[in-house]
Amino acid sequence: MGQKIALIGFMGCGKTSIGKMLASRLSASFLDLDQEIERIERRSIRELFEAEGEAAFRAIETETLSRLSQRKENLVLSCGGGAIIPPANRQLLTREFFVVWIHVPLEELVKRLAREREGRPLLKDADYEEKVKKLFETRLPLYQEACALTYRWKDGESTTDSATAIMDALALAR
Ligand code: S3P
Repeated sequence: MGQKIALIGFMGCGKTSIGKMLASRLSASFLDLDQEIERIERRSIRELFEAEGEAAFRAIETETLSRLSQRKENLVLSCGGGAIIPPANRQLLTREFFVVWIHVPLEELVKRLAREREGRPLLKDADYEEKVKKLFETRLPLYQEACALTYRWKDGESTTDSATAIMDALALAR
């Protein structure tokens, strides 16, 4: 049985870039849940949301997560920010993965996401800042519940710094 790590956290926290770096350092495969969904569905997350709505996206997300959790090799999986919403997903994640929460402060996320709204259907509203704040507050307890380890990003830390800090914390935690 390989070691499986899942990265969770709000949109824009760096799951994908940190995950790729972690996977390379751990000589593990890297998978991104959103990219996997887009590959299977042959359309972008935005198109999927527009055509089918959020509930349908969540069902596909749950199904894809469940399938990827069966993989046997060493794996780093980056999850979409809302993958922790269904209780069954949180249970699956804690059972099948060592879950790391990348916790970035709200103010920083608002700054980052202002530049990265394109392609994120939940952030297309005019009152974007309010929406981010609301989602962030609702999801905090869910990230907390699902994770085995919290990595708190500090101002100025690069992707490399984050990957190093998580590697160190993993070595201590396991
Ligand atoms: C979502 C986050 C996105 C993507 C979808 C919904 C969310 O992934 O799954 O747009 O509900 O937070 P990222 O966290 O990788 O942006």
